[in-house]
Amino acid sequence: MFDVSEVRKDFPMLQNKMMQNHPLVYLDNGATTFKPQSVIDAVTGYYTTTSCNIHRGDYDLSFQISSEYENARKSVAQFLNAEAKEIVFTSGATASLNQIAYGYGLKHLQKGDVILTTEAEHASSILPWFKVVEQTGAVIEYIELTEKGELSVENVRKALHEKVKVVVFAAVSNVLGFKNPVKEITRLAHELGAVVVCDGAQWVPHVKTDVKDLDVDFMVFSAHKCCGPTGIGVLYGKYDLLEDMEPVVYGGGANARFDACGNILLKHAPAKFEAGTPAIEAALGLKAAVEYLQKLDMDNIEAYEADLKRYAIEKLKELDHLMIYNAEASTGIIAFNVKDVFAQDAASYLNSQGIAVRAGNHCAKILVQHLKTSETIRASFYFYNTKEDVDRFVEACKNITVENCVGLFF
Ligand code: ALA
Repeated sequence: MFDVSEVRKDFPMLQNKMMQNHPLVYLDNGATTFKPQSVIDAVTGYYTTTSCNIHRGDYDLSFQISSEYENARKSVAQFLNAEAKEIVFTSGATASLNQIAYGYGLKHLQKGDVILTTEAEHASSILPWFKVVEQTGAVIEYIELTEKGELSVENVRKALHEKVKVVVFAAVSNVLGFKNPVKEITRLAHELGAVVVCDGAQWVPHVKTDVKDLDVDFMVFSAHKCCGPTGIGVLYGKYDLLEDMEPVVYGGGANARFDACGNILLKHAPAKFEAGTPAIEAALGLKAAVEYLQKLDMDNIEAYEADLKRYAIEKLKELDHLMIYNAEASTGIIAFNVKDVFAQDAASYLNSQGIAVRAGNHCAKILVQHLKTSETIRASFYFYNTKEDVDRFVEACKNITVENCVGLFF
């Protein structure tokens, strides 16, 4: 296991950062994460030493940066146990999910086909499929969640039938943090010939990912949620599916040739999905991020966060005015509310104590019907959070009362 006090030294944002005159406790890692110095150096290194375009220039600096960009793809592939040609760089998980819906869904789905998903999905995972439905006549069906909001293999089995062509779900819910049985769900979907699209935005940063073992057809994530830069994400796809899929964005670098009559010959994947100049510095930053995570070891990260979550839940459970929605979820997300206090007011109180959390529906706007509350407060940990952070958080939670929250505004 790593030494968290040593790990924290790698992160400039964790050095004496204050918020509201208190040392910052950052518990919004589900939204984005801090960057270690190695990632920052990789990004700034591009601008200071090799700031040229890739795959276009006929000179040494361009050759060099092209090869570094492709090395980033190889590092990400190794991180996921994929092949480099199966890794498409996008602007983030949202762009990856849109690419799959429009590029695969519009091409293959027909009237009456079923897209199977859940009510716990993030907007980026479900809204593109709503648009596919409008254009194809396919329909969306929802797998029933358990009372706690989990996705069970049993309910997936009940929901699957021969019209289901695509199964879309988050490996870890961004609101409740349950780790879903990805491998078993994929196996069941494949038995009926359905394609599996897995949103890994809250999984890949926290759990060792082996796409070959999981056997998912598509898996996506964003770099910024795993210590990498904003503006870059990954679309992993099995190569034959990528080759079969249409790009959403057309332009330079993605085509082999085109003519005045409108004939386009696209390059092979992944190039055909990467039209235009990409976020080169971000790809180098992402490479540094996955190398950093691998040095810590993803199994260590998962175990550390589970321990931190257990520690926090034990203490929070003693507070009678808190309602915790996902005490059993093993990843580092805690979804809760405070009796009689509006979630955003509670988050504002935590802010006044130097604690950063997110409140609201977390872009999963259908899940609120299942939770029977329109808003929750979300505290989300990463491997650089400490038990001291948890203690500060719990102490502050003790004092979230209507009176203390009103005091913030008047
Ligand atoms: N999708 C991110 C979250 O869950 C922004 O907070």
